[in-house]
Amino acid sequence: MALNFPEDFLWGGAVAANQCEGAYLADGKGLSIQDVTPKGGLGPVTPEPTEDNMKLVGIDFYNRYKEDVKLFAEMGFKVFRTSIAWSRIFPNGDDTTPNEKGLEFYDNLFDECLKYGIEPLVTISHYETPLNLAKKYDGWRDRRLIGFYETYVRTIFERYKDKVKYWLTFNEINSIVHAPFMSGGIYTEKDKLTKSDLYQAIHHELVASALATKIGHEMMPNAKIGCMILGMPVYPLTPNPDDVIKMLERDRENLLFSDVHVRGKYPAYAKRLFKEQNIEIKMEPGDEEILSNTVDFISFSYYMSICESADPTKVAGKGNLMGGVPNPYLKASEWGWQIDPKGLRYILNTLYDRYEKPLFIVENGLGAVDQLVEDETGNKTVIDDYRIQYLNDHLVQVAEAIEDGVEIMGYTTWGCIDLVSASTAELKKRYGFIYVDRNDDGTGTLERYKKKSFHWYKEVIKTNGKSLKN
Ligand code: BG6
Repeated sequence: MALNFPEDFLWGGAVAANQCEGAYLADGKGLSIQDVTPKGGLGPVTPEPTEDNMKLVGIDFYNRYKEDVKLFAEMGFKVFRTSIAWSRIFPNGDDTTPNEKGLEFYDNLFDECLKYGIEPLVTISHYETPLNLAKKYDGWRDRRLIGFYETYVRTIFERYKDKVKYWLTFNEINSIVHAPFMSGGIYTEKDKLTKSDLYQAIHHELVASALATKIGHEMMPNAKIGCMILGMPVYPLTPNPDDVIKMLERDRENLLFSDVHVRGKYPAYAKRLFKEQNIEIKMEPGDEEILSNTVDFISFSYYMSICESADPTKVAGKGNLMGGVPNPYLKASEWGWQIDPKGLRYILNTLYDRYEKPLFIVENGLGAVDQLVEDETGNKTVIDDYRIQYLNDHLVQVAEAIEDGVEIMGYTTWGCIDLVSASTAELKKRYGFIYVDRNDDGTGTLERYKKKSFHWYKEVIKTNGKSLKN
């Protein structure tokens, strides 16, 4: 099979501010919801930040970004996806004036990328709602969040409009269904929320996202603004038609988000879904008009697929925030996430068939335990053949999808440098091409070391994918 990646394919890597920057109170930053979840996004919330929270220091990217961007440039990155920590810009979220020091940090970071010809791809909100907005307003349940987000978005668009061309409105916006605190800053415990509460918050985010797209297009005519979905293809566990219907329903739980972003309105199936689950959404006049501002591209994360079954004895396994019934044909990572490279070709095709809009794979990778060893020249490294295999196999499926006719803008591996995991806040779950010497007990020098995959990815980019093995 030909490995024909387009000449302008955007190869790169991705991180999120809260998982790598650290410096959680530096230069006027306010607290974010991540500073009070020491066990990760699905774990308990602490009243104050606690020392065991690995995100408070992260990998010290805030102070070491120059060294790190240089390493990304050495691999040949064309694009670097990161997020802006909202609470660096508006420490309380509802402030009226931004924090200049926070703005300066991202000016410097984007300049550093551009110096090497690396395009920044910026997530506006990546699981890091300012804590004050969570506590005072219950996060996105409160409609006023739309206004605070608008102020933030206008500020960063104005500031970075000449530096950033690619924007994503909310990271994995559909994950709010499973992780309302991490994804939507909703302080009320999940089991106390009604479906109406949840979908009201979702409606607010969807309106805010469409508003950001509208404002972005007005302020930056050359920018490309995309949505970002947690991509997880759903297969029926068996050909039993009941399983197939379950699959359809489960898939729509996620597709609702991309449907609104791409088609500019709620899909037809939402009516029945809302009716059967007693969901009532309060819409304001003008909301429908705002939602009609559609995205330029669809981005998504892809780690795994799941199965659905109508049989209630089939229980969900582990997975990226939303698990599903395990697939008997697939093996899993050390964290129980099932590995399915062909699922990537499948989701690329199904999304493209549905929307015919450009797609961007903005997260994919293997979280694994790495061993730092010495190579023959005495340099420290990690022989991560398992990661190379995982990424190679997924990229071959991207090439298959390109051959299928799917329009793909680029591919950014998740955690191109080791960082703190989102779901479990561990450092030992490593994704990077670059090893960071920091451990879950807080020890480590924070030194960076190139893994074997660093050299492998450099070759993949240099050959525009021709070095992949299929
Ligand atoms: C995605 C998130 O859900 O998956 C990232 O957008 C996250 O923030 C990534 O880090 C991998 O998940 P985890 O839990 O292994 O960090």
